[in-house]
Amino acid sequence: LASTDVELGPIAEGQAVTVMWRGKPVFVRRRTAQEIQEARAVPVGELRDPATDQSRVKQGKDQWLVVLGVCTHLGCVPLGQKPTDDRGAYGGWFCPCHGSHYDTAGRVRRGPAPTNLAIPDYTFTSDTRIRVG
Ligand code: FES
Repeated sequence: LASTDVELGPIAEGQAVTVMWRGKPVFVRRRTAQEIQEARAVPVGELRDPATDQSRVKQGKDQWLVVLGVCTHLGCVPLGQKPTDDRGAYGGWFCPCHGSHYDTAGRVRRGPAPTNLAIPDYTFTSDTRIRVG
C-alpha cells in the first residue's frame, strides 16, 4: 500500500499502536503530558542527533509521535509500544539487539544507534486520523 490510514481515537494517552507501511512497522504513540515535558526539557546540544521535540511532531498535535519502528543501528524493532515493555532509560523505546535507548521523542540517547528514529511522511486528514505516506 502506498499509504496507510490510522484511526487515533482508540489510542489512549500513554498507549501506542503499530501499523505496517511499505513493509515496515510505524509506531504511533499518544504521549502523556509528562512525556512531552520530559522530551522538551532535554538540552538539544546534548543529543547525538540534535532535534527539538517540536521538530519531531506536527504543530498543535504535540501528543502524537509517529516514527518508523526500525532501530537506526541495524534495523531491529525496538521495544516500548506497550507500557509494560522495557522502554529503556529515557522512557521511549529500547532496542534489545545491542542496547540503544530512545526517548519520548524517538531520539537516540544511548547505545550504538547513530540517529533518531526516522519520521515517515504523514498528514492529519482529520483531528482523529492520520495518513502515513
Ligand atoms: Fe538496535 Fe543494534 S539494531 S541497537
